[in-house]
Amino acid sequence: MNLSATPSLYAERRARLAAQLGPKGIAILPTAPEQQRNRDGDFLYRHDSYFYYLSGFTEPKAWLVITGDGKTTLFCAPKDMEREIWDGYRLGPDAAPAQLGVDAAYSITELAAQMPGLLDGRDAVWYPFATHKGLETQVDGWLGSVRGRVRLGALCPDQLRDLCGPLDEMRLVKDGHEQATMRRAAQISAGAHIRAMQLSARMLRDGQEVREYHLDAELLHEFRRQGSQYPAYGSIVAAGANACVLHYRADAGRVADGELVLIDAGCELDGYASDITRTFPANGKFSGPQRALYELVLASQEAAIAATHAGARFTDPHDATVKVLAQGLLDLGLLDKNKVGTLADVIEKRAYSTFYMHRTGHWLGMDVHDCGSYVEPAEAGRFTERKDPLSGDTVKDRPSRILQAGMVLTVEPGLYVRPADGVPVQFHNIGIRIEDDAIVTAAGCELISRGVPVAVDEIEALMRG
Ligand code: GLY
Ligand code: MN
Ligand code: MN
Repeated sequence: MNLSATPSLYAERRARLAAQLGPKGIAILPTAPEQQRNRDGDFLYRHDSYFYYLSGFTEPKAWLVITGDGKTTLFCAPKDMEREIWDGYRLGPDAAPAQLGVDAAYSITELAAQMPGLLDGRDAVWYPFATHKGLETQVDGWLGSVRGRVRLGALCPDQLRDLCGPLDEMRLVKDGHEQATMRRAAQISAGAHIRAMQLSARMLRDGQEVREYHLDAELLHEFRRQGSQYPAYGSIVAAGANACVLHYRADAGRVADGELVLIDAGCELDGYASDITRTFPANGKFSGPQRALYELVLASQEAAIAATHAGARFTDPHDATVKVLAQGLLDLGLLDKNKVGTLADVIEKRAYSTFYMHRTGHWLGMDVHDCGSYVEPAEAGRFTERKDPLSGDTVKDRPSRILQAGMVLTVEPGLYVRPADGVPVQFHNIGIRIEDDAIVTAAGCELISRGVPVAVDEIEALMRG
């Protein structure tokens, strides 16, 4: 078992959490369950992100119990030579306090017997709401056991609180260790994108047939070669028109000379995600229409990046993107001024959403769509209501989150042009997204994923190489 940081980092996080539980509070947090794939085969195991954030412990079958006085108890799989021969090394409860810095550790087989005693005398029970199937029922059962002993002097907690609240806020601002890990993850992913681009051009130059899975294999090879455990999400490798399917997955599509390829892929390293998208010409040379749309998306990304800094709102980069894209769509004739009106009309009526239908970013961290409220907590009570011009739904707009140094988000504008009447034919079936990962700083943001270039000339140069 290798911790990617010293035990004191996790102990410090647990202390910060404990201080928010109240002196008589108690937090209960299981790691993720193992998931059966079929028969006696499981999916590759991935720990729970909250659990890992507070422990650095990656084994399955483990629970953390943290009390308001700052004490942590770990329940984990017991040593078992027979099981370890089949499934691998287990830390075990005897070694856990020294290795993980927890105050006490027991076998997971003692969890049910010990929980009522740990809950007795506490006032608030904190656990992550709606994240672990059956957890509510388990907690309920343990509370029932405590209540069954009130005549013997037991005191039963009377409040249930969502542990996601304080943990989401803590995870939203990344500390130095997290930022360093994310820089390295992004660097590995950038190298993988470069290799996939170069492979595409090289295979086409050599007259070979290129399939999406060839490029996917190149990404995976580079992720693992550099020590990443696995992709942070299902890689998108979308050739030609497939790029207009937002959740397309790397499949067997033919990568044709003259078409664009959109790759959205990032590795996970030591529990942290990266998330990069590049769109490039399969043969290494942009055509005129491809270049025109690409330059527009890139200009919109530059506007979003300029709007990303401490003190800005989370929605500012999106608004900056939309302004640039909307004007470009009018200029290139994808939107007809005579039908949609002025730039202000396009923005107000969201006419751009035919070609740009997603947000410009999301939080990034241990999870690719990381936790953290998108609403500024102090202003959550303020909202205005509006009718969405497209769906007709009533939407509540609350003040968007104010960015702070250390928050990490993606900046990922795109354009997706499906064939339709009135859409210039030279743009049909072009899908473009450019996505980078940004650490917010006081003065701006640090783009940690630019190890793979975005400029047209630089992409063409590296694909020639
Ligand atoms: N790769 C997932 C996303 O870009 O949000
Ligand atoms: Mn993303
Ligand atoms: Mn992505």
